[in-house]
Amino acid sequence: MSLQIRDVRKEYPTRSGSLKVLDGVSLSLERGDAVAIMGPSGSGKSTLLHILGTLDFPTAGSVQLDGVAPFELNERDLAAFRNRRIGFVFQDHHLLPQCSVLENVLIPTLVNPEANKPELLKTAKELLDRVGLSGRIEHRPAELSGGERQRVAVARALIQKPALILADEPTGNLDRASAAVVGKLLVELNSRENSILVVVTHSQDLAGLFPKRLEMGDGRLL
Ligand SMILES: Nc1ncnc2c1ncn2[C@@H]1O[C@H](COP(=O)(O)OP(=O)(O)OP(=O)(O)O)[C@@H](O)[C@H]1O
Ligand SMILES: [Mg+2]
Repeated sequence: MSLQIRDVRKEYPTRSGSLKVLDGVSLSLERGDAVAIMGPSGSGKSTLLHILGTLDFPTAGSVQLDGVAPFELNERDLAAFRNRRIGFVFQDHHLLPQCSVLENVLIPTLVNPEANKPELLKTAKELLDRVGLSGRIEHRPAELSGGERQRVAVARALIQKPALILADEPTGNLDRASAAVVGKLLVELNSRENSILVVVTHSQDLAGLFPKRLEMGDGRLL
């Protein structure tokens, strides 16, 4: 996986005119890279992450993931590409309330017909063990604390060993000790799987685990 974006701009139309959020963002990452993006609230960090994850499109500029221009794919190919290659940890965890913790972790694998079920089950349990939830795999999200749900979301993002991992405030709801566990897990798995990890965070502790740190401000990456 390689990630290349050049001069990405994003404007949102609003009732009071157009809101310029990204004003020429360029970033180039290779396999094994791990980067933390910091910056004030409202500076466009989540917007950038959504564009990197192909969940939102740029107003201008180019995005290339693994030599593919994702926004030129049709909707079906883009969805498949996203599912197989990108893992997300969102600011809101988006767990399915009616599914157990274990089922939630396995959700990204359901659309993959070649999935090796016993192997995935083993990986899911290992990941849940790593984030300290091995005793809670049959629980529903409503029976977990906010931080525990966030840890489930991290395990779910990693289940398919995605080539690109995008995490928006993955330790936002966690105490210091759990935050360190989750942060280290992300960084360690990224280096083991030789993937690309991009994390957005306000936490100096979390950012400190990353070899590369960037600051978002005035719609640009500094
Ligand atoms: N769909 C939208 N329509 C209009 N404006 C939007 C939309 N999504 C985001 N914005 C605006 O874009 C700006 C950047 O938002 P974004 O969520 O990227 O910030 P952020 O850096 O992630 O902030 P935080 O640290 O608070 O999560 C904000 O001013 C926000 O109000
Ligand atoms: Mg945000």
